[in-house]
Amino acid sequence: MTATLPVAATIHFTVNGRSVSASVDGGRRLLDVLRLDLGLTGAKEGCGEGECGACAVLLDGELVNSCLVPVGQVMGGDVLTIEGLAIDGRLAPVQASFLELGGTQCGMCAPGMLLAARALLASRQPSGDPEIREAIAGNLCRCTGYTRIIESIAAVADDGTRGAAVVASAGADTLPALEVTAPLRLGPEVPLVRPGSLPDALARLAADPTLRPIAGGTDLMVQLAADPARHRPLLDLSRLDELRGIAVTHGELVVGALTSWEDLRHSAIVSGALPVLAGVASTMGAVAIRNRATVGGNCMTASPAGDLLPVLLATDAILEIAGPDGVRAVAADAFWTGYRQTAVKPGELLVAIRIPMVPGRQVRFRKVGTRRALSIAKVLVAVAWRVDEGAAEGAVRTTWRDVRVALGSVAERPIRVLRTEALLEGRTPSPALAAEAAATVQAEIVPIDDIRSTAEYRRAVAGRVLRRILLDA
Ligand code: FES
Ligand code: FES
Repeated sequence: MTATLPVAATIHFTVNGRSVSASVDGGRRLLDVLRLDLGLTGAKEGCGEGECGACAVLLDGELVNSCLVPVGQVMGGDVLTIEGLAIDGRLAPVQASFLELGGTQCGMCAPGMLLAARALLASRQPSGDPEIREAIAGNLCRCTGYTRIIESIAAVADDGTRGAAVVASAGADTLPALEVTAPLRLGPEVPLVRPGSLPDALARLAADPTLRPIAGGTDLMVQLAADPARHRPLLDLSRLDELRGIAVTHGELVVGALTSWEDLRHSAIVSGALPVLAGVASTMGAVAIRNRATVGGNCMTASPAGDLLPVLLATDAILEIAGPDGVRAVAADAFWTGYRQTAVKPGELLVAIRIPMVPGRQVRFRKVGTRRALSIAKVLVAVAWRVDEGAAEGAVRTTWRDVRVALGSVAERPIRVLRTEALLEGRTPSPALAAEAAATVQAEIVPIDDIRSTAEYRRAVAGRVLRRILLDA
């Protein structure tokens, strides 16, 4: 099969209000273009995996980790780096506040912290420290100066005039273009093609099935950096706006595959129709990751630890897959077929997730990780049921129906535990039943030992978490 791809394309965008034209492979990391090609070294490389925030920049006003953004996706976009934060040669108010209040020590985290603050202050007046903490989450301060950092941001937020100045400090558009030097390559890079519609994307896949689809890139860019041998040209899905959005249609909650986790988290439709989804989204990464990561990406990465997957199993979700012969629907039960394997065939794309709205259904979700936030799950548990109330011997008798119990991180793929479900089906909740269900699920799963946890720990925790969910319910 022959690919008709350019080795490099000319990519136009603006950085700090100055235009840039870069003839580089679209798969080149934005971080490398900024640091190596443009000499803007304020964005740093720390982890290279989206976990430290040292490389943070604003892309079209949103905080992103530039180590995870292929520059081809920045075409036509507007990038703000720490070098562009000052106003007319003077420190921006938030920068001055960091200096006044000791918000910076070694300075390594300052660019990410300041840009996270800028994104927050430009979007809203934070209601207090928790909102500031949330906004800077994912930016690690090795000097552990978080208290001063938060105070520095809060001081600007409390000063309406200074906050407004932050918002008004967008870069001028009359500055000379930035010069791009000959790209310094750190390793193999890949071209990226940008279809403008779903039919266009499917046609390109049909012409070259080796193209690798990329959406938010938060997982794939890490894989590419770690394993250059797996490099294949990228098929960028980010312009397929028809795959983005959330709606309730014909009794189903429909989520487009390109919907970001941050959009899922803040959707009023989700809050009304299936609030557990917003709860799942809040446990997934920091804002810079949630701005980029997509719901479809979580499904297609097919990690056993994929945060959303147990909830999709527990709610009998249906995944829509588009291909040359049209759109087909696959039940969540049949979608994840093995370790990082899905039912999507070459030439196909996941386009939407449909979740049937069931009156009276309850859904609970718990994630256990190394810490409360920003961690990969050691165990995920999702439970769904519907309550039946009937009379028996003169008293109201509550029984559970349509019980689903799904787990992540305890097998090579997300799974439902059918024996445990059968135990709970048609039963009346009680502490004894919760204990029995915990023992059943522990006997039913076969977790593995790996770098994040032991099988023994996972088995114990899965039982305890299920028991707690049942007791709370
Ligand atoms: Fe750590 Fe990008 S270098 S998030
Ligand atoms: Fe040193 Fe934050 S001030 S890493």
